[in-house]
Formats: sequence, structure tokens, C-alpha cells
Amino acid sequence: MPMIPDRYTKTAILLHWVIAALMILNIVLILTVEQFPDEWVRPVVDTHKSIGITVLGLVIVRLLWRATHKPPAMPGSYGRLERFAAHAAHGVLYLLMILLPLSGWMHDSAWKDAATHPMQLFGLVPWPRIGWIMAIEPATKEMLHDAFGALHTWAGYVLYVIFALHVLGALKHQFLDGEKELQRMLP
Ligand code: HEM
Repeated sequence: MPMIPDRYTKTAILLHWVIAALMILNIVLILTVEQFPDEWVRPVVDTHKSIGITVLGLVIVRLLWRATHKPPAMPGSYGRLERFAAHAAHGVLYLLMILLPLSGWMHDSAWKDAATHPMQLFGLVPWPRIGWIMAIEPATKEMLHDAFGALHTWAGYVLYVIFALHVLGALKHQFLDGEKELQRMLP
């Protein structure tokens, strides 16, 4: 009989921590952008975009991995409500990992100067904007630029809340319930 794993696969663990680190770095970068000298602001925003697109790529790999590799079962001591809350938080986090970079990319594609400021991933690889958004007539595009920007900001607010719950939940299981919770997601 195959053993039921008690921790995530190495690939899932790597993707979890790389994506978490990149998202945290991206949020810190953009929320502190005004502290940088003027000539740094454009490169910092460009790096924010590059990191975000990298996250989008990694999340697609992660979802494919998740669809083909079963995660370890949750410890039997967790109640029904707790299981539901954990699964719901994971679901929302997956949605946000897609919605944040996608709304950022849409916001940036609706930018009126997008055509004259081509995007490059980390200043190295040319990266496209979303063509159908760039092609919209200017007044509507300006409206969409604001709307996608607001969506991007609000997705960030939701992320802060769910991220806090996710971390608190993991710490509760580890230190109050005495489960080997963190070991499931550590190499
Ligand atoms: C991991 C993915 C991403 C996260 C977590 C993220 C998060 C954020 C946050 C928290 C803000 C500040 C919003 C505010 O305070 O109003 C922001 C701003 C912004 N983001 Fe993102 N973002 C991501 C990906 C992207 C991508 C892929 C793009 C574009 C290709 C992008 C473009 C922008 C732009 C243009 C701004 C406004 C910057 C400015 O003040 O000029 N973001 N992002």
C-alpha cells in the first residue's frame, strides 16, 4: 500500500517559499517606493512589474503541480470548521496569487504611455502588454486604468488579511495544538 505523505513534495515546498518571498518583496518594494531617490522610482516600479510577472508564471507551475500531486492529509486533530477555514484560506490565496499579478498587468496595459514605455522583464527580456487593452480608445482606457488600479490595490488589502490568518493559523497549529504543522512545509 502506498504511504500517505506527511509533508508536501520538495517541489511544492520550493514553490511555496519562493512565491511567498517574491510576493512579500514585491509589496515591500512598492509600498516603500517613495523613500527611494527620484531616479530610482522608475527602476523600482519596473522591478515590481517583473517580479509580479515571475510570480504569475510560478503560480501556473504551482497549480499544475498541485493538480497532479496530492497534498498531505491534515492531522486528524483538526476540527471540521478549522479544516474548512484552512482550505478556504488556501483557495483565496491561490485566487490572489493570480488576481494580483493579472490586475497589475491589466492596469499597466491600460496606462496611456504604455506604447512609448515598452516593458522588459528585469531589463533583459521584452515582455508584452495585453494587446486588446492597449487598443481601447483613450477615454475608456483611462477609466479602466483607474478601475484595474483599484482592483490591484483592493486585492492587496484582501491579501494582507488572508495572509495574516494563514500565518496565525499555522502558528496556532504548531504551538497551541502541538502539531508538526511547519514541518509539513519545510524541507
Ligand atoms: C506578486 C504580484 C503583485 C503584488 C503582490 C502586487 C502588489 C501591489 C501593491 C500592494 C501595490 C500598491 C497599491 C497601492 O498602494 O495603491 C501595487 C502597485 C502597483 N503595481 Fe503591483 N503587484 C503585483 C504584480 C504587479 C504586476 C505584474 C504589475 C504590472 C505588470 C504591477 C503593476 C503595478 C503598478 C503600475 C503599481 C502602481 C505603482 C505606482 O505607484 O506607480 N503589479 N502592486
